[in-house]
Amino acid sequence: MAVPTESQLNNVTLTPAQHPLDPLTPEEIGEATAILKTQRNLGARVRFETIVLQEPAKETVLNFRIRDPIQREAFIVILDNDTGATYEAVISLNQGKVTSWKHIPGVQPRIMFDEFSECEAAVKANTEFQVAIKKRGITSPDLVMVDPWSAGNYGIDEEEGRRLVLARSFLRSSPTDNGYARPIEGVTAVVDLNSMEVVRVDDFGVVPIPPNPGNYASEFVDEFRTDLKPLEIAQPKGTSFQIDGYGVTWQKWRLRIGFTPREGLVIHNIGYEDQGRVRPIVCRASLSDMVVPYGDPSKDHYRKNAFDAGEYGIGTLANSLTLGCDCLGEIHYFDAVMNDGRGGVVTIPNAVCLHEEDYGILWKHSDWRTGQTEVRRSRRLVVSSISTVGNYEYGFFWYFYQDGTIQLEVKLTGIVNTAAVPAGETPKYGTLVAPQLNAHIHQHFFNFRLDMSVDGEDNSVYEVNTVSEPIGPDNPHGNAFFAEATLFKTELEAQRVIDPMSSRYWMVSNPSVANALGQPVGYKLMPGDNILPFAHPSASIIKRAGFMTKHLWVTPYDPDEMTATGPYPNQHPGGAGLPEYTTADRNIENTDLVLWYTLGYHHVPRPEDWPVSPVTYCGFMLKPVGFFDTNPVLDVPPSAHHNGVCHA
Ligand code: CU
Repeated sequence: MAVPTESQLNNVTLTPAQHPLDPLTPEEIGEATAILKTQRNLGARVRFETIVLQEPAKETVLNFRIRDPIQREAFIVILDNDTGATYEAVISLNQGKVTSWKHIPGVQPRIMFDEFSECEAAVKANTEFQVAIKKRGITSPDLVMVDPWSAGNYGIDEEEGRRLVLARSFLRSSPTDNGYARPIEGVTAVVDLNSMEVVRVDDFGVVPIPPNPGNYASEFVDEFRTDLKPLEIAQPKGTSFQIDGYGVTWQKWRLRIGFTPREGLVIHNIGYEDQGRVRPIVCRASLSDMVVPYGDPSKDHYRKNAFDAGEYGIGTLANSLTLGCDCLGEIHYFDAVMNDGRGGVVTIPNAVCLHEEDYGILWKHSDWRTGQTEVRRSRRLVVSSISTVGNYEYGFFWYFYQDGTIQLEVKLTGIVNTAAVPAGETPKYGTLVAPQLNAHIHQHFFNFRLDMSVDGEDNSVYEVNTVSEPIGPDNPHGNAFFAEATLFKTELEAQRVIDPMSSRYWMVSNPSVANALGQPVGYKLMPGDNILPFAHPSASIIKRAGFMTKHLWVTPYDPDEMTATGPYPNQHPGGAGLPEYTTADRNIENTDLVLWYTLGYHHVPRPEDWPVSPVTYCGFMLKPVGFFDTNPVLDVPPSAHHNGVCHA
């Protein structure tokens, strides 16, 4: 008898969610909002920062079998605009009631998308702002764009406890013109988002508006190059992946797609089928936060930095991706279901793109004696999402390769943040990208949380450095070098930075599972290009984004420790997240552990980054080391070509 699939069974039982990790459906979001509004008597002055699946306990997920009843819970964060108070609620959707309700004192939830447009309207309507722009020759605020920047925390008494943003503005010359070409320099409006009032307008002095347009849209391009011939990707027999709800099977890979307002794309339960079973590798992989510190010390720019996940919600800012443009080939899209500030459902269609790509050669050898050549084509599964945060775009691409490699790549593009400088001035803390237009030097720091489960939950981490053997009886000729592994026993030992000269990597191994050679099975985290922050250790941003100061952090698994910057980084004075989690210096040996990798991208802007930056890339890889007994891709068949197959 044929065994019914997961989805067939769920059709029988009419379970709305097929798996405990499935993101909330639009119906569930609507229901959760209604339950909370009714049972807590919420008024019209309440904003919903987050409505997301309350992920079930790890044991529930690990022990889940199809047919099991699923308990669905929503986690909600609300902000009361009248009192400025923040509350966290858990709603049981099965029971139809609020099961937890907590006031969280002294925090500011993220800046919500609705607040962007309301803030822009408030600033444009403000008389003091209108006077400031008139001084700069702008007679009407109609074509002004206002970007709300998170205020940070600089220990200023009058800002304490208020929900503030610093609004910087730009001037379009027509409704579709690139306003970032014309920064309205020297004007910062400080806005209270609870009352939606302009608290004050700082005017640091007039700098003329840069003269040139900076347009990139196709309507502004006079002539396109004409030498591009069609390049088509054909998969006439369909894809090699199968999708069941949010579950993905691609050759030997198994994974589940998730999506949250703060983190964006999340990948759950990553495993690889081997020896007749699915061997777990990563339990949950996500962007935990990111921050972009800028390097200009001037009065109107020294506070310029943004936590694009923790302060703005990178998931809520995800793009709807389009076939043939964002992604090529046979695509499967997943929608992202989010909420607006009033608890309504917002669906972002096609927020996640999943497809496979040819990736050159997988392996090759030619035997020169026999003339026999063996070569295999490599293919990768791509799971991606792109978010627009004001002027910038970030693409988050997870790649799964046939040989067990997992790669994370961030694609950075969009428009560099700009400031105006007087004619003839060469900026020190930035690059002139157009006449009188300065793009400030800055850095992008991402932190990825990797809840590892290499062949099981209990893992250990080693740092591996390659070292030269000193000359001596074991090394009389001086040629010797070897890879040296050092075990991390506690959290503080595992706070590390990269060292490309020792080929440093970090190995997650399972001491209880050995491969056929008797070695503990493992996966290594391989850093790519990376950087440390340049801000002084005493700077506010170093305290608020302490995660930037180390590339590797390791913690024992704790479901309350989900983000490198803590749950509420907006206006937080600092110290939260990884620095706080690790103060107790807990044991991390042979236990359920989480790897946190900080990835820095250093951006000295170039004229070529204007008016829109070509994509640049940064990332890291997870690679099997003794996880398999041998090369796991010998079974990939040779490809067909026009003379037969690719081996002779
Ligand atoms: Cu940049």
